[in-house]
Amino acid sequence: MVNITFNSSRCVKCGKCVNLCPTKHLVMTDAGPEARPGSCMGCLQCAAACPQDAVLESGRSATVPAPFDTVEELVMGRRSVRRYKPDAPDKRTLQWALDRAAYAPSGGNRRPTRWAVVLGAEKMLAVKEAALAYCKETGFAPELVNSIEKGRDSLTCGATALIAGFEPEGSLNHGTDTVIALTTAELLLVSRGLGTCWGGWMRRLADRAPALRELLGVPEGWHVCGCLLAGKPSMEYPNIPARPGADIHWA
Ligand SMILES: Cc1cc2nc3c(=O)[nH]c(=O)nc-3n(C[C@H](O)[C@H](O)[C@H](O)COP(=O)(O)O)c2cc1C
Repeated sequence: MVNITFNSSRCVKCGKCVNLCPTKHLVMTDAGPEARPGSCMGCLQCAAACPQDAVLESGRSATVPAPFDTVEELVMGRRSVRRYKPDAPDKRTLQWALDRAAYAPSGGNRRPTRWAVVLGAEKMLAVKEAALAYCKETGFAPELVNSIEKGRDSLTCGATALIAGFEPEGSLNHGTDTVIALTTAELLLVSRGLGTCWGGWMRRLADRAPALRELLGVPEGWHVCGCLLAGKPSMEYPNIPARPGADIHWA
């Protein structure tokens, strides 16, 4: 259970935490931001974005000092970005990251993933409309439709690019190679200043909605195993949120 509170002597009530919270768990009151009961998933976007480092988790600072090591900083400093500038990322940067993703490990070195890239706000809108039309026709994911209608787009997150990775049915280690390759590409994109967010809703819809499969060029018998949303971020995260240590059984 996540318990978010705020250090009132630091908080300047700028509202960034409330605005960014992906589950709308926080509200602004006269006394400052407050957490409502339930719905927090503990992502700590609030803490990562707070310019005053005023967010507390269970009464303690919800952030950690930035590491010195650049790889560690890349891994710890990456956040799921849900605020983007309207202009799309450079096609060459996406191509570069996906070319490099071929260096990621893959079972039997088969590299089974084929990619589709949607680039630009207009095309992303077409993706969103096709996904919503499918949901409305079939009754799939009413909670997603509801949240989009209320102005919270957890499907495209306002991103201006989408990378979808697909594999043939029955491929060895189905889905794993794609997720590793896309994770590799994600860190490379972040290293070049782009923002990213994994699209779980997008993946589920891209795999099942015929109009989306066609738009992405997913062949019959192939499955969409990973979707990454990307774009030029319109915000920065000054802090790194704290995460619990790994749950390990040292056998
Ligand atoms: C497989 C997967 C699916 C996800 N799907 C979504 C999604 O559909 N919409 C969304 O807004 N965020 C999505 N996320 C982002 C998570 O909410 C986010 O990674 C998590 O809250 C931790 O926050 P951080 O990435 O900023 O550290 C997804 C992440 C993963 C790994």
